[in-house]
Amino acid sequence: MSQSPDLIKEHYKKEAEIHKDAPVSTMADVIIRDKELELIQNFFKLLVAPANVLEIGCGNGFTLEMLLREFPKNKYTGLDYTEELLDQAKARGLGCELHAGDSRALPFGEGQFDIVYTERCLINVLEDEGKLKSIDEIHRVLKPGGLYLMMEGFEDGMENNNRARQELGLETLSPAHHNTYFNKKTLYPHIEGKLERIEPETLSPVGHKIQWNFLSSHYFFARVLHPLITKGEQTRNTEMVKFFAHMPPMGNYSPLQAHIFRKL
Ligand SMILES: C[S@@+](CC[C@H](N)C(=O)[O-])C[C@H]1O[C@@H](n2cnc3c(N)ncnc32)[C@H](O)[C@@H]1O
Repeated sequence: MSQSPDLIKEHYKKEAEIHKDAPVSTMADVIIRDKELELIQNFFKLLVAPANVLEIGCGNGFTLEMLLREFPKNKYTGLDYTEELLDQAKARGLGCELHAGDSRALPFGEGQFDIVYTERCLINVLEDEGKLKSIDEIHRVLKPGGLYLMMEGFEDGMENNNRARQELGLETLSPAHHNTYFNKKTLYPHIEGKLERIEPETLSPVGHKIQWNFLSSHYFFARVLHPLITKGEQTRNTEMVKFFAHMPPMGNYSPLQAHIFRKL
């Protein structure tokens, strides 16, 4: 199951050493982290009954700690592939189970969870085959009717963003060396009959707060307009980027997207 050489574990081992339990661990862009947390909170506000929740790729446990604080009625389980990050999560003393494991072979029985979510985890499973195996595993451990919040990287948003950059004379960007993105033309036929993509408004009227393209305007500004204006590539956490982060999401210009699927 390991990717050879295991650059993922090496990469995150260093992240754990440098950032320990900080929110910037695995995410240096504070706007992305804030918007992810906001979206996850809005997603959990949709749930009416206490739920059995699994986070795959929980890293240092930052998001799990927030969920345990804000939504204490749910039961939480975290799983991660990198022991050093999992140790950071364990050191938080969270009231939840934490497991070492791999998304491609989950150590859980069938139909155990009401909710599974991933926050930039499956982008680390570099080959398509492993990505799809992980999706099959998520489908297996979900209860019928259970929900998967997939906050992952997608090629279409990256391609649109690169087209905008090219139009303005900027070089195209590629995913980081430890990431690859999902291709919807491969993913959607694979899940047909197993998982259906749903609009959050079908779960609750307040679902409109959960927008799949929640980072689109941020990526358009941070990766297209900002480098054009400044003639540089310093795009993270500047005042100008923070100002434009108040814009509502528009278009499809972010590789990072949030989609909700229901197990059929
Ligand atoms: C980008 S980090 C995100 C961590 C956490 N969700 C957060 O937002 O801080 C990706 C996490 O997924 C874990 N990971 C990578 N591949 C995995 C796999 N195949 N199975 C389980 N976890 C994996 C990494 O160890 C890392 O902790």
